[in-house]
Amino acid sequence: MGPKEAAAVEAVKYVEDGMVVGLGSGSTASIAIKLMGEKVKEEGIEVTGIPTSAASDLLGRAVGIKIGDLDDHRHVDMTIDGADEVDADLNLVKGLGGALVREKMVAAATRLEMIVVDESKLVVYLGQKAPVPVEVVGFSHVSTMRRLAALGCDPVVRLADGKPYVTDNGNMIIDCKFERIEDPASLESILNVVPGVVDNGLFIGLADKVIVGSEEGVHIIERPEQPL
Ligand code: A5P
Repeated sequence: MGPKEAAAVEAVKYVEDGMVVGLGSGSTASIAIKLMGEKVKEEGIEVTGIPTSAASDLLGRAVGIKIGDLDDHRHVDMTIDGADEVDADLNLVKGLGGALVREKMVAAATRLEMIVVDESKLVVYLGQKAPVPVEVVGFSHVSTMRRLAALGCDPVVRLADGKPYVTDNGNMIIDCKFERIEDPASLESILNVVPGVVDNGLFIGLADKVIVGSEEGVHIIERPEQPL
């Protein structure tokens, strides 16, 4: 079993009958969705999945998970999602798969946000390897990029097959590589007040548990207690 599968197997152990479960996006979360489908069939339990992307919606249905949405479910019991970077405070960069807006909406409604990664995603500081994906509306996106560049990053339009990548929400992604992100919470807010920005891939204080898979097995990192 590879590191991603090991993490997904551990996460799916937490799924119980009757739960509303967020279905993450990306390769590791997809393994978890497939395992959840097997669990639903084998154990005869019922789970309502809240997809974080069109792809996880399709996959969830294909493996026999009942699909719901946040409008009908104010709270999500747990979500299993991937990440692109995880720091020691369990703050994340997400969205290299392009699903950051729905992922953050589902995470914000989730009681137990469980992140499944391999060891390559653990970083000393956010921005160490990955750019921060920023979802923007297509209208005058060059002017939005100028404002993003003024915040100290190198903004690049994400492409797919040579054309601008289009998110599930019909928007574009600008990948913003910062040298080093000292204060990710402030940067998350600053990015989101740039006109034209829908949301960004900094996930601050949302992850509760990170399951790290490796060739040796898994280890679990819990979010440190927050001061009152
Ligand atoms: C999707 O938008 C991302 O946030 C994913 O969670 C992320 O890219 C992780 O994907 P992998 O599990 O494929 O590395």
